[in-house]
Amino acid sequence: MSPHPKVQLRGSFEPPGDKSVGHRLALMAAIAEGPSRLERFPPGRDCGRTLELVKALGVPTRAEGDTVDIDGRGFDGLQQPGGDLDAGNSGTTARIGCGVLAGLPFDTRIIGDESLSRRPFDRVIKPLSLMGASFKSSSGLLPLLVQGGRELRSINYELPVPSAQVKTAILLAGLRASGTTRVTEKIPSRSHTELALADFGAPPLVENGVVSLSGGSRLQGHRFRIPGDFSSAAFFIGAAAFLPGSELAVTNVGLNPTRAALLDVLQRMGADIQIESTPNLPSREPMGTVRVRGASLHGVNVEPDIIPSLIDELPILSVVAAFAEGTTRIQGASELRVKESDRLAAILEGLSAIGAQVESSNDGFVVHGGASLHPAELKSYGDHRMVMAWAIAALGVDGECKIDDIDPVKISFPSFFETLDRLVH
Ligand code: S3P
Repeated sequence: MSPHPKVQLRGSFEPPGDKSVGHRLALMAAIAEGPSRLERFPPGRDCGRTLELVKALGVPTRAEGDTVDIDGRGFDGLQQPGGDLDAGNSGTTARIGCGVLAGLPFDTRIIGDESLSRRPFDRVIKPLSLMGASFKSSSGLLPLLVQGGRELRSINYELPVPSAQVKTAILLAGLRASGTTRVTEKIPSRSHTELALADFGAPPLVENGVVSLSGGSRLQGHRFRIPGDFSSAAFFIGAAAFLPGSELAVTNVGLNPTRAALLDVLQRMGADIQIESTPNLPSREPMGTVRVRGASLHGVNVEPDIIPSLIDELPILSVVAAFAEGTTRIQGASELRVKESDRLAAILEGLSAIGAQVESSNDGFVVHGGASLHPAELKSYGDHRMVMAWAIAALGVDGECKIDDIDPVKISFPSFFETLDRLVH
């Protein structure tokens, strides 16, 4: 029996600034020469951690509303922090931060919260050590001592796991290295770093899956208007796609194709989605409006080659799949195990709790949609994206679901529940 949700999403909203882009621009603005202005800087705790790191390195920053001004000091103007650099829950702060810290002439120590302290750092330690940096950690986990002060050399590195964080760390260190650094990706990951480097005046060459960057390139301060976070918008886009009668417009949302593959998957599932692009000069990040109307959806296969372009959208996609008819198969998604929570386990547990038929597979999961769903108590495991996925699942079931801890939405989307209240009819 198909589920028959009773609510709809109607109206329009502009998502908060993109978290992935925000981290990169704050760090690059710090190592750039001269002032940068970042408009629509993301309001969540994670990007706040990156701003704290930038300040701890002695770079002046000023925030007014959602505009952040950063007086870039160049690599040579950065100072040794007075204490540990606390990345909190933010893997991106810690991993891409390593790329900058690796090239500085002093030691720094990165710490994080309980979740971040379980996540792997060997993926950045290995390539940055090949470049000449030195690290001390226990089993590749935080706390991580970054021992700077060494001359960095360029490397040719093929990413063993597609990861934009690792690619970014290597490229940022590559700015300080002698020679040309090359990163090869078998499957492309999000390209925000490549676009931002070009905006800051140091364009890498991107050809046949290889990103090449000349060592010694200098960044110049720049002005940005950060597009809305596609990963935050995805919860509402997904909800409007399966809730019959919905009519939603998401404005000024980032549409970088290496990030927005969820739109193609939803369209393949039968979703009614229209996309219009909007100019976003002087930044190279594509942006636009996404209009969604509720429709009946069917299951699809999601192959490994697009997983990096929708990795953070898999929790919401799993929910949409439970409300679609037929089977959705997700392959090549083992990385879900090492996100803010073990998202593979969290997805399987929560969907089963509401009565969906799910199975884990070798490197992903299968959802047999169309089952009769019921309310349940759902666990977020301290993970912002699991909270939001369960809040959307709750819209589709008849009766009240309980989510154990909703505070983690502050990591990426502090106004998530206010937005939900406004759009639900
Ligand atoms: C991110 C890359 C992805 C993503 C994370 C943000 C980034 O992680 O899951 O939320 O900003 O580069 P990986 O690089 O580990 O794939």
